[in-house]
Amino acid sequence: MQTIEQLAALREAVDELRARGTVALVPTMGALHEGHMALVREAKARAAAVVVSIFVNPRQFGPAEDLASYPRTLVADSRMLEAEGVDLLWAPDADEVYPKGFSTTVSVAGVSESLCGAARPGHFDGVATVVLKLFNEVQPDLALFGEKDWQQLTVIRRMARDLDLLRPPAEAIHGVPTVREADGLALSSRNRYLSPDQREAARALPEVLQLGIAMLADGHALSQVRDLAVEQLLNAGFDKVDYLDLRDADTLEALEADNGNARLFVAAHIGGTRLIDNLAVHSRR
Ligand code: PAJ
Repeated sequence: MQTIEQLAALREAVDELRARGTVALVPTMGALHEGHMALVREAKARAAAVVVSIFVNPRQFGPAEDLASYPRTLVADSRMLEAEGVDLLWAPDADEVYPKGFSTTVSVAGVSESLCGAARPGHFDGVATVVLKLFNEVQPDLALFGEKDWQQLTVIRRMARDLDLLRPPAEAIHGVPTVREADGLALSSRNRYLSPDQREAARALPEVLQLGIAMLADGHALSQVRDLAVEQLLNAGFDKVDYLDLRDADTLEALEADNGNARLFVAAHIGGTRLIDNLAVHSRR
């Protein structure tokens, strides 16, 4: 596996990879876990060559967020990627990505605005800007993103369609199902922040999604689901719930009941760590 930190060298190396056939890109911020590895394995299965990027993108962190403390584990990450047969690791530093004078922001209206976009102003502008740069730098045939960050996947799909990125965007942007711990907690780099007690309590997050989906199927109103879910999260040890929302999976439009294509989304804080999760509501229609 080659590790490259400069754009000129990246472009040359990707040109060589392209001679082999299709190139897949897996963008990450490092602190890799089995969720990231599921994306890498899917990329290997779908393309001749796999590029993984690791860049802790300052533009997607708010001023009071965890940019400084975000886990950076490049040596361990490299070993994991090498063992998985990744061809190229793109690991630029912040000056390489945002040189002096950098002035452009990509903003995807609509799908960026609710849920995490409301709780983290500017977050998805930072994500869209860096992902568009990565697409231009690597010019992959396909790119893989996790369903754990469903809104992010939706924002990137929207951007790819709007700006004619990749060909065709509907198939070239590939969503990979969420990888979970045995108790249901979605793997996340931020789980490393949790104390053993908080980690135990965090299982309540997927549990309230499961409970919520069962309640909706039984005909309970969304407001009842929300009240019970918030109560259960606070009882379990969460400090604050940012949202528990039912949304159309494609448009993220707010729903009061399942429309046959709904997902339930949750974000909550525990001991200074913000965790998110979402699940499809399997319609009976
Ligand atoms: P990061 O949080 O490192 O996640 C990188 C990719 O791994 C994302 O597509 C994310 O959805 C996916 N992922 C994380 N946990 C997962 C899990 N448990 N199961 C399946 N996939 C999972 O998301 C980002 O980085 C950044 O916003 C990025 C897209 C790299 C832009 O900076």
